Amino acid sequence: MIDIAFVPAALPTAGALALLVPEGASLGAGEGMLAQADAACGGTLSRAAAAAGFTGKKAQTCAVLAPTEGLSRVVLIGLGRDSDHTLRGMEEAGAAAAVALARDTEAALAVDDMPASHAAHAALGAQLRSYRFDRYRTKEKPDDKPKLATLNIMADDPDAARAAWPALAAVAQGVALSRDLASEPPNVLHPTELAERCRPLADLGVEVEVLGPEQMRGLGMNALLAVSMGSAQEPRVVVMRWNGGEPGAAPACFVGKGVTFDSGGISIKPAPGMEDMKWDMAGAAAVIGAVSALAGRKARANVVGVVGLTENMLSGAAQRPGDVVRSLSGQTIEVQNTDAEGRLVLADAIWYAQDRFSPAFTVDLATLTGAIIVSLGHEYAGMFSNDDPLAAKLQAAGQASGEAVWRMPLGEAYDKLIRSDIADMKNIGGRPGGAIIGAQFIQRFVRGPWAHLDIAGTAWSTKDSPLAPKGATAWGVRLLDRLVAEHMEAAQPQ
Ligand code: BES
Ligand code: MN
Ligand code: ZN
Repeated sequence: MIDIAFVPAALPTAGALALLVPEGASLGAGEGMLAQADAACGGTLSRAAAAAGFTGKKAQTCAVLAPTEGLSRVVLIGLGRDSDHTLRGMEEAGAAAAVALARDTEAALAVDDMPASHAAHAALGAQLRSYRFDRYRTKEKPDDKPKLATLNIMADDPDAARAAWPALAAVAQGVALSRDLASEPPNVLHPTELAERCRPLADLGVEVEVLGPEQMRGLGMNALLAVSMGSAQEPRVVVMRWNGGEPGAAPACFVGKGVTFDSGGISIKPAPGMEDMKWDMAGAAAVIGAVSALAGRKARANVVGVVGLTENMLSGAAQRPGDVVRSLSGQTIEVQNTDAEGRLVLADAIWYAQDRFSPAFTVDLATLTGAIIVSLGHEYAGMFSNDDPLAAKLQAAGQASGEAVWRMPLGEAYDKLIRSDIADMKNIGGRPGGAIIGAQFIQRFVRGPWAHLDIAGTAWSTKDSPLAPKGATAWGVRLLDRLVAEHMEAAQPQ
């Protein structure tokens, strides 16, 4: 993670510098850093911009090398039109600056003539975009690695920007934690290890509790346990409690699917692409990252994170298609396909969370179905909810956070498809509407306001995006953070 410092807006005479350029702005005009820099460079910046056709369009960049004796590099970052000068726009500009300045160990980014919040969000963007998972690269040459270690954000009111920063830094930490977890290979990050990685949240004031297989058996979490039967790795359930709100106030419950590797089990998946199933724990990673963010910024809300952790493997001890299991809720499930395992994990984790914590509302996140990718691609996560107000809040938080959800239907006609001849329900109901059927199954284990987010299409990206390198996206961390900020914290007296 690059270090962020907020400093007064004063033109540096040495090192690397990034400047934000509104679309159509003339570089030499005004008194801001842009004009000062252009003057100090003898008009070189204006000339370079003209030569390169740089007009300040959003995401456009123009790098000028050694324009003065001291300055090694000046990078112009296009800010786009006024309507792009939002906090999100600033995050993307900060991110673009971090990419453009990656060759320098220390650099400055001018965010003058903007509110302090904009400077802080530019810093957030820089941190989010410069994330890297390089634990297992041993042969990378130092020259090939990004070097940026310190980014000095120049602001008109650096004190105010500095004051706004810790809350955003906590979010960046939560995102990085979530990305780390989803990026880890499945031999390293099995359920036991994933549970261990939750324990440091205690340093932020989170109460972390880990349930092992004995406790899970004692409780009767047989649906989750059935998934883990084929694995040499023990399952876990982790409960993370952040009590930042009114004592005794009903918490929000966030429940995550944490399948650390999904082979499909006896209903085995095809080999090509199976390696992707290491991130079948991205729902759990989002919940863990969100709890970390909320605790890190001391959110004034009560939140409980519950993650069900297991591997879905095959062996002589694995569950079979046709098995019937009795879930924690008491309802029986005919397991017709062992690859529809996420819903078995969630059935017990959600029931447990609701039974124990009587939440105000529950949101589960899961890489549940390939079908949601067919429906929505990689742009929106699928949202299913039994509660219109909660759905509306998630929709708004999705827009605000850049992690958008699209509401999908639920209904009796879909529920019929999971009727079983032998048990209370079966775990599959045919290919058409596959994501809805998965949600319908989960709804049978839900009491009270609930939303299910199918994040199979958004949890991982095969290409770089404005605020993240390709790979684990940590999708959901910022959404849940926003949901809590706008709908739990904002409702309280100051
Ligand atoms: N983990 C998968 C879903 C998935 C697919 C996540 C692609 C990320 C990318 C889930 O456990 C699964 O296997 N779902 C099945 C359900 C089916 C058997 C009803 C699927 O989508 O094919
Ligand atoms: Mn599966
Ligand atoms: Zn799965």
